[in-house]
Amino acid sequence: MTTAIIGTGGIGSAIARQLASGGETLRLSSADSESARTLAAKIGHGAVAAAGNRDALQDAGAVVLALRFPVLKGVIDEIAGLLPGKLVVVPSNPVGLDAQGNVVRLLPKGQSSGKVVAGWLPSGARLAMAFGSMSAGLLESSGNRSPEPAVLFYATDDDHAGEEVQRLIRTAGFEPVRVGGIEQSGRLEVGGDLHDLVVGPAEARSLIGGT
Ligand SMILES: NC(=O)c1ccc[n+]([C@@H]2O[C@H](COP(=O)([O-])OP(=O)(O)OC[C@H]3O[C@@H](n4cnc5c(N)ncnc54)[C@H](OP(=O)(O)O)[C@@H]3O)[C@@H](O)[C@H]2O)c1
Repeated sequence: MTTAIIGTGGIGSAIARQLASGGETLRLSSADSESARTLAAKIGHGAVAAAGNRDALQDAGAVVLALRFPVLKGVIDEIAGLLPGKLVVVPSNPVGLDAQGNVVRLLPKGQSSGKVVAGWLPSGARLAMAFGSMSAGLLESSGNRSPEPAVLFYATDDDHAGEEVQRLIRTAGFEPVRVGGIEQSGRLEVGGDLHDLVVGPAEARSLIGGT
């Protein structure tokens, strides 16, 4: 299966390596095309750098938007016509840095990036918030853990998107666990109770029911 990854920085490159190691074919794009080309060359067989964001979606059933929150809307607008019928996976957290370099929230308290992104997508695009619930380092060190796999939480309102994102999560070497609909996606974000957790399936399920 082919997945597009737009954004090949910290989290996009980690997701790309995890998916490629599970056999996913990837089409990569970035703001500066050199970044996507370098990552595709490092991953090797199965990953190609696309000619741009729209080109990345060619033949892809899913797209991961591994972008900082402030650039997400512009990229969604650029590729909107190609999104109906596709799974859209968003790992973005609504955070940025202030002038002093401190992490600041970019949305009002209580408003999740999932809710906001859902409002930016064209109808027919199937949104799942996933792959942003742990740091890139943890994602790479926890994938394909044995004997018990680590869990990646996801949130979606759409059952079909749920099946598709479960496949991607398994391909990346994790056990998928649904936290609930998009209204629950704040739990996965920076500051959420399920952020940066590396847990097995039983603990994950008890945490989901636990709050
Ligand atoms: N890093 C983590 O550990 C981590 C973990 C979980 C969630 N997240 C979330 O994931 C999001 C991305 O974080 P990050 O750390 O990966 O950021 P990053 O390292 O700055 O990477 C951002 C990527 O977006 C690309 N980009 C920017 N504008 C673009 C455009 N118009 N079209 C295509 N690509 C564009 C950049 O391209 P260039 O490479 O050419 O500059 C870069 O590859 C954030 O919301 C963050 O909160 C990050």
